[in-house]
Amino acid sequence: MRLEIINFRVNEDERGCLVAIEENKTIPFEIKRVYYIYNTNDKKRGFHAHRKTKQLMVCLNGSCSILLDDGYSRSEVTLDSPSKGLLIEQMVWHEMYNFSDRCILMVLASEPYDENDYIRNYCDFIYEINNSKNLNS
Ligand code: TYD
Repeated sequence: MRLEIINFRVNEDERGCLVAIEENKTIPFEIKRVYYIYNTNDKKRGFHAHRKTKQLMVCLNGSCSILLDDGYSRSEVTLDSPSKGLLIEQMVWHEMYNFSDRCILMVLASEPYDENDYIRNYCDFIYEINNSKNLNS
């Protein structure tokens, strides 16, 4: 599947770097929630898809790998820069792993937290993808 990476504008001068992210401008959704993951002990996370929520992942420190699966094909990306964001649309299965020491993964989300928005079983995810394909055809 096609990866959607957003390269942020970096305001760099002798004092360092500054990146600004604005909703519906830098990224294509309204930001309803921000969370971040750290101290992972290199344990894998994610293993779910969202029915409605879109997300943007930014690795603020260190690096990590993300696997994306839209039900048809898979892609893997390494996030290793705070100047890059990975857009994850709704109905994309994602897994995060290969967390480096001191990795901080920040996530901007288009919806408030709602457990009903999660599909946590891969077979259920494929079932829902196939159902929506049949409804649209
Ligand atoms: P979980 O979904 O397991 O994290 P990951 O996306 O890395 O697999 O979430 C871990 C816990 O945090 C779980 O109890 C739900 C809670 N949580 C919130 O309260 N709000 C949130 O925005 C998120 C993403 C999780």
